[in-house]
Amino acid sequence: MDSQKSPLDIDFVIAPSILSADFACLGKEVQDVLAAGANWIHFDVMDNHYVPNLTIGPLVCEAIRPYAIKNGKLAMIDVHLMVEPVDRLVPDFAKAGANLISFHPEASPHINRTLHLIRDQGCQAGLVFNPATPLDYLDHTLELLDLVLLMSVNPGFGGQSFIPSTLDKVAQVRARLDQYQLQTGRYIRLEVDGGIKVDNIAQVAKAGADTFVAGSAIFGKENYATVIDAMRTELAKSGKA
Ligand code: DX5
Ligand code: ZN
Repeated sequence: MDSQKSPLDIDFVIAPSILSADFACLGKEVQDVLAAGANWIHFDVMDNHYVPNLTIGPLVCEAIRPYAIKNGKLAMIDVHLMVEPVDRLVPDFAKAGANLISFHPEASPHINRTLHLIRDQGCQAGLVFNPATPLDYLDHTLELLDLVLLMSVNPGFGGQSFIPSTLDKVAQVRARLDQYQLQTGRYIRLEVDGGIKVDNIAQVAKAGADTFVAGSAIFGKENYATVIDAMRTELAKSGKA
């Protein structure tokens, strides 16, 4: 990922959430979805504490690492931690091959320390905002962020409906990141997660997102390439490519 891109030169990233994949053959699912045109693998970690669900941890990340290859290169494993506390798991995910680690600020008592920990482990760092989490957490963190992740559902489950008020929030963060880039030259990605489908992805891009998580929209379908191609066609129509 190039963190110095100009706003006019942004690649759209499609990051399928393997939460909706067939866990009995996860390696193949990862390979198939990347071959079908996905860019990153979104890896949802839930602890039955911060969110009311229990999913996968570093062992599974390590197991899929050899399958997350695209055009002969490592594809990004985008780890979304929905756990509390956060710090204990960061080195484990870094060792397991995560490239980007995002966490919810409410789940860490020392946000700056957690961001440094992620970067010290050689990973990119992201901060995640629930639908009702205020954007104030960006005030003192931007210089340590590679990505801002806006939740467009309440975290915990795949297959929920997109919350429309997210679009305003995306636009607000976009404005703030654009201003930051003008001042510093550094590009921070803006990812949206939850209820993204072929029929709403263009709207989300238009509001200012460049990175799109989609779980049930892709893994729920027979042909992953058909869905991802349709998403790219919609993204091209958004006028933001
Ligand atoms: C929700 C997860 C999402 C979710 C996306 O807590 O963070 O990544 O799996 O799934 P869909 O696209 O089905 O809403
Ligand atoms: Zn997620």
